[in-house]
Amino acid sequence: MRISRIGVGAWAWGDRLYWGYGRSYNDYDLRGAFEAALGAGVNWFDTAEVYGFGRSEQILGQFLSSADRPVVIASKFMPFPWRLRRGSLLGALRGTLRRLGLERVDLYQIHWPFPPMPVETWMDAFAEAVQAGLVRAVGVSNYSVEQMRRAHAALTKRGVPLASNQVEYSLLERAPERSGLLDACRELGVTLIAYSPLAQGLLTGKYSKASPPSGMRGRRMRKRLTKIEPVVASLREIGEARDKTPGQVALNWLICKGAVAIPGAKTAQQAEQNAGALGWRLTDDEVVALDSVAP
Ligand SMILES: NC(=O)c1ccc[n+]([C@@H]2O[C@H](COP(=O)([O-])OP(=O)(O)OC[C@H]3O[C@@H](n4cnc5c(N)ncnc54)[C@H](OP(=O)(O)O)[C@@H]3O)[C@@H](O)[C@H]2O)c1
Repeated sequence: MRISRIGVGAWAWGDRLYWGYGRSYNDYDLRGAFEAALGAGVNWFDTAEVYGFGRSEQILGQFLSSADRPVVIASKFMPFPWRLRRGSLLGALRGTLRRLGLERVDLYQIHWPFPPMPVETWMDAFAEAVQAGLVRAVGVSNYSVEQMRRAHAALTKRGVPLASNQVEYSLLERAPERSGLLDACRELGVTLIAYSPLAQGLLTGKYSKASPPSGMRGRRMRKRLTKIEPVVASLREIGEARDKTPGQVALNWLICKGAVAIPGAKTAQQAEQNAGALGWRLTDDEVVALDSVAP
């Protein structure tokens, strides 16, 4: 399965509560984002059963039905604490496939390493889904190095590779470098999928302490907004010399680290701009300069 190094994150597609779907953007804008992304060389989308309580998968399914080229779809299973049987994964997966209008999902990920079920039990269930032909590849999300190694070992026993670990990674969240996760992904041949790669819009340079995002996101990002000034200044400086936006530089930095990124996009303009992180590369010196300015 070949994916572009930039995908599109579809958390905001159908999510009213956190992202304001239906107020500042609608299905028409999202269709524009979908088509613009494909037109710009992006070939995959990331969603989850919990995004918009299933609405994100439904919207994506509608768009897929009229897509004029192959599209890779990643979705996620949420191990709610009341899902206590392996079989509940197959039930959830069937719901995902119905909403997406697909017979098989390309990448099926476990959303969080929540207890009480052990990693190995869920990995067995994922392997069964692959063997049943309902899933092409298996991924984990928000897994630590140790949890990822356990998932990798459990799947290997069943003859299924662990394809990916999706974690928060950006210039404002560099935990995957400090924790050894990025190195462990390289060692195991697991693709690191960076989520919130624009720090929920902060790295585009359009927000500041004086003009934060509205609502819940603004409150959640308050602390980060105090740190972004030097990072955005550096992204701008590097971007201006290359005719790139701060967001494109921030996404390219992730590509240079060996990750793939799934920036969320609500409009054609955002999707097209984010795809502009493809097809070029920061120099090593530019990566080091960004490393030194990011907290
Ligand atoms: N596995 C997990 O637990 C997990 C957790 C979080 C996210 N994710 C995944 O990662 C994806 C991306 O993360 P995210 O949505 O949290 O954050 P993000 O990609 O860092 O930021 C997305 C937001 O930034 C703004 N934006 C994006 N492109 C822009 C552009 N070119 N110009 C200006 N503004 C732009 C938009 O919001 P505004 O226009 O409103 O500013 C957009 O909704 C999600 O959609 C989801 O698929 C996974």
